[in-house]
Amino acid sequence: MSKWLEFMPRALLATQIVLVFGFTPQVTAATGYGLGRPATPAEIAGWDIDVRPDGQGLPPGRGSVAEGEKIYGEKCASCHGDFGDNPQYAQLAGGVGSLAGSSPVWTVGSALNNATTLFDYINRAMPFPNPKSLTPDEVYALSAYILNLSNIVPADAVLDQKTLPQVKMPNRDGFILFPGLMTAHGKSDIHAVACMHDCVKQVKVISELPAGFTEKFFGDISQEFRGLNTMNQTGEPQWVRVALNDSSAAPPSGYALAQKNGCTACHATDHKIVGPAYRDVAAKYQGDAQALEKLKAKVRKGGAGVWGEVPMPPQTQVSDGDLDAILKWVLSGGATTP
Ligand code: HEC
Ligand code: HEC
Repeated sequence: MSKWLEFMPRALLATQIVLVFGFTPQVTAATGYGLGRPATPAEIAGWDIDVRPDGQGLPPGRGSVAEGEKIYGEKCASCHGDFGDNPQYAQLAGGVGSLAGSSPVWTVGSALNNATTLFDYINRAMPFPNPKSLTPDEVYALSAYILNLSNIVPADAVLDQKTLPQVKMPNRDGFILFPGLMTAHGKSDIHAVACMHDCVKQVKVISELPAGFTEKFFGDISQEFRGLNTMNQTGEPQWVRVALNDSSAAPPSGYALAQKNGCTACHATDHKIVGPAYRDVAAKYQGDAQALEKLKAKVRKGGAGVWGEVPMPPQTQVSDGDLDAILKWVLSGGATTP
């Protein structure tokens, strides 16, 4: 605060000097607008932390399951449970092979197809309150411990630049490449849920591009996007439909309002994040005439106990109108993510 107070008059002074001398910044190819400066290699290195499936990007270092167990106990167990078994934040262990079944459990072992992703995630994002505070050795050790919790590596495993990419995750082959988009006759990769209540009667297409339009500007992209069949038409012409942002077209969707008001940080329509899935909320209050008013008050005041121990913080930022619209959308049961 005091830094700002000191700084303010000088900033004002600088503005006045500029005015007095009638200084006009010269824009040239060499100086651009005179703003900023090129990032230094050290600055770029600070951001360039991604680790790829083949291990590219892994820093030197090593860590064992036993070392990981110790660090995990100090820095991670409070949220994830002693054995990675606490589902309240993100369950890390178990669940292997469950994703295709009727009660899927998303965990490191069930979901990730590459162990390098685990390293990358811990390295960039954990521990939650203090990301990027771990050394490479610690991240290797934590990766080893978490993988051992699901018996993916043995208890004496030591992971490093060479051994980590060799770990074969149980879900290695469980991922598919954009069906629909990437194969000409595949199914769509979007699985929208059918709207059940108060649905729009007619979808209004606001703008459309004639066949050949993309070809004119981007060349023949049919090889990159097979299935986007706009090229070399034979038979019926196809249309690429583009809905432009037209504020007169329709009021923002419930989802857009939830997003605008920060609700989607904790709520998804179809699965629990920190808060319950909106679909589950709709199911719980189905037929309850008081639900709208009750939930309005609850969201405003926040609180815990209905869906678990984790509280929802008071949502004071959302306007009455937005809250009404979001909750009607939630309770309609037709909540879908666009
Ligand atoms: C204060 C609570 C907290 C602490 C401490 C914490 N985490 Fe997390 N962790 C979370 C939350 C919340 C998520 C889910 C974040 C999300 O989905 O955006 C998460 C997600 C993860 C995931 C991804 C799980 C998945 O399946 O997507 C891993 C791996 C993980 N944490 C590892 C660790 C490790 C290792 C530590 C200790 C160095 C740690 N966490 C400490 C709260 C915590
Ligand atoms: C920081 C996370 C967080 C945010 C942000 C958040 N919620 Fe929640 N929400 C929760 C949690 C946790 C619960 C479960 C509370 C409980 O068990 O009583 C919950 C519960 C709910 C419920 C069900 C309440 C009940 O008593 O059954 C509704 C409806 C809801 N939230 C709507 C919203 C709306 C609308 C917003 C945005 C304006 C929002 N939430 C923002 C975490 C959050």
